[in-house]
Amino acid sequence: MDEIDIPEAIRDTVEIPKQSRSFLSLPLIIGGILCFGVLLLLFLFFSPLKSTQNTVTKSLPQASSEKPLVESDSPNNPTPTPDNPTPIRTKSNTTEQPANAKPNTEKLLGHLPYDVAPQSDLQAITADGRLKLRSAATAKFRQMQAAAQAEGIILTPISAFRNIEDQEQLFFGIKEQRVQDAAKRAEVSAPPGYSEHHTGYAIDIGDGNAPATNVEPEFANTAAFGWLQKNALKYSFELSFPPDNEQGVSYEPWHWRFVGDRHSLETFYKVRN
Ligand code: DAL
Ligand code: ZN
Repeated sequence: MDEIDIPEAIRDTVEIPKQSRSFLSLPLIIGGILCFGVLLLLFLFFSPLKSTQNTVTKSLPQASSEKPLVESDSPNNPTPTPDNPTPIRTKSNTTEQPANAKPNTEKLLGHLPYDVAPQSDLQAITADGRLKLRSAATAKFRQMQAAAQAEGIILTPISAFRNIEDQEQLFFGIKEQRVQDAAKRAEVSAPPGYSEHHTGYAIDIGDGNAPATNVEPEFANTAAFGWLQKNALKYSFELSFPPDNEQGVSYEPWHWRFVGDRHSLETFYKVRN
């Protein structure tokens, strides 16, 4: 049958319900899509946060197990807490700073802390073997001594490497003998653990031609001191305590230190940074 032959009224009754169903389902479809979109957004938004929170929570016990290491390396590092999850940063610090690691870098009565040189690297600088420096410093001191001697200057080693017990005697023993308080004693002698002599790089030098000036301010007037002032840097020896030094230690024209290799340089300069 031709569509033209169907009465208009009948055609309408057939088509109207179809349109009505599609109009009713459209909002449902749009609503469904919107709901799905909102759920998807919620999932995407919350899932990374959830995973970050898990990471932090998981990292805390790990950091906590590293705490003694971190604290000993850097006493100023804050202790990690859930509110302040610094363990990630402190962990990287521990891997980046082992070379800096020193349990104590604070001055005591103006003196800086130093490690004691290993016996295995100590070499005699005197014929009787009584005075020693680390091998690199010994080699350079001998060269310097020979060069001075060629010019009639006698560089006499008075004191070189000292262990903790030596320094205890020098600090506490003489302090009591001279009835000095600790601050007064520290002007001329470092407390044990804080002497450059522990490093095996420091040496007290006298003038063999003027022994009365040994470890006295008058050493500054000797030919040996004049020669050292002019030549010591050629052998990488420098004066540790010049007049008005930052540490507040008395002027010691006899006390020289070796800074001619990486370890000695780091020993004396890193601790000051
Ligand atoms: N006389 C220097 C400061 C020392 O005792 O190491
Ligand atoms: Zn000295």
